[in-house]
Amino acid sequence: MAAPARPPFAAWLGGGNDVTAAFLAAAGRPDIVNLAGGLPDPALFPVEDLARLAAAAVRERPAEVLGYGPVAGMADLRAALAARLSTPALRLSAANVLVVSGGMQGLDLLGKVLIEEGASVAAQWPTYLGALDAWRPRRPRYRPLLPATDPAGLAAALAGAAFGYVVPNFSNPTGRLVPEGERRALVAAARATGTWLVEDDPYGSLGYDGPALPRLLDLDAGEGAGAGGYEGPVVYLGTLSKLVVPGLRVGWVVAAPAMIAALARARQGSDMCGAGLSQAMALAAFAEGLPERLAPRAVALYRGRRDALLAAMAAGLGGRFAWEVPAGGMFVWARARDAGLDTDRLFHAGLAAGVCITPGSAFDPAGRDRGGLRLNFTLNPPDRLAEGVRRLAAAAATLG
Ligand SMILES: Cc1ncc(COP(=O)(O)O)c(C=O)c1O
Repeated sequence: MAAPARPPFAAWLGGGNDVTAAFLAAAGRPDIVNLAGGLPDPALFPVEDLARLAAAAVRERPAEVLGYGPVAGMADLRAALAARLSTPALRLSAANVLVVSGGMQGLDLLGKVLIEEGASVAAQWPTYLGALDAWRPRRPRYRPLLPATDPAGLAAALAGAAFGYVVPNFSNPTGRLVPEGERRALVAAARATGTWLVEDDPYGSLGYDGPALPRLLDLDAGEGAGAGGYEGPVVYLGTLSKLVVPGLRVGWVVAAPAMIAALARARQGSDMCGAGLSQAMALAAFAEGLPERLAPRAVALYRGRRDALLAAMAAGLGGRFAWEVPAGGMFVWARARDAGLDTDRLFHAGLAAGVCITPGSAFDPAGRDRGGLRLNFTLNPPDRLAEGVRRLAAAAATLG
């Protein structure tokens, strides 16, 4: 007897791009130069520090570390994050903080609490592919928010949207640093329209060229939204992934208490609570200043790798692509000079030539961008970056 047909998978799984799955599969192959991911170099992982913190956490706080924990995160970690992120103008309390399993979970929970059927998201374009993946099951429409339009244009993009989404510091994929004027205009538009404004900031501590710019959260607090406890429209996402390690899966959301409460309700039906061991390690890492200790070495190493990638690109890809120098983060974003050069085709030709890149279509909600290209410079040493670019140039030449 024929087996009965199984019910189909949910319809949203039919959409999206197959490029993400292909580059994740390629990431594990040693014969391929991986320029695709957003990965820190494991050689920088503070192995001994984390081993010491893990052992101490299990021994000293076994009930909290090995049991279930509070949905919104360990109370003392929430308080420590509130203190770390407070300024004279921004008085945060633990009620403003949700500990999440990486910024990615924050994006997923935001989709759950804000995106209703038929809703629109006003997003910086091109858009981080993980955010597109997180929200895909809810099928939002997208409107472009940045690069900058005038204040009236920003307000028009935000008005009626479920939320705005930006990566102001060294955006993924473009590496762009949103200038202060645009930041102020964004915050003003969010305040004027009452729209939530999601500030996703995994790369803020990886600046290579100049001083840090104010966070949207700080700019909003400066307008009076933070003095009595933050109640404003900015929803700030941070993470330990890029400067410390991604494997702890510790990130945080800072927002108005009502938003934190809504996200915590959604989290209850997701993973229920974060890993106690990771949270206790994060708390101890903050207490002893581990992120601050790691930053100078990471910044120096990655700055050198950025420069090495740019030099290799100038030598091998300048005829076919144009790009800007990113002042921080992990990526160079390049655009084909010839509209006929299809970066989806180049992605496949690159794999055949032994290099993996991320094509622009992965960052376009409609998958239509065929001229963009994202290259990562943090994972590989300079000689490997140069080899990757050589292979990419050879692959581009085969496309005619
Ligand atoms: C823009 C952006 N947001 C969020 C994340 C998620 O990072 P994690 O979940 O590791 O904190 C990433 C990681 O690449 C990212 O580039």
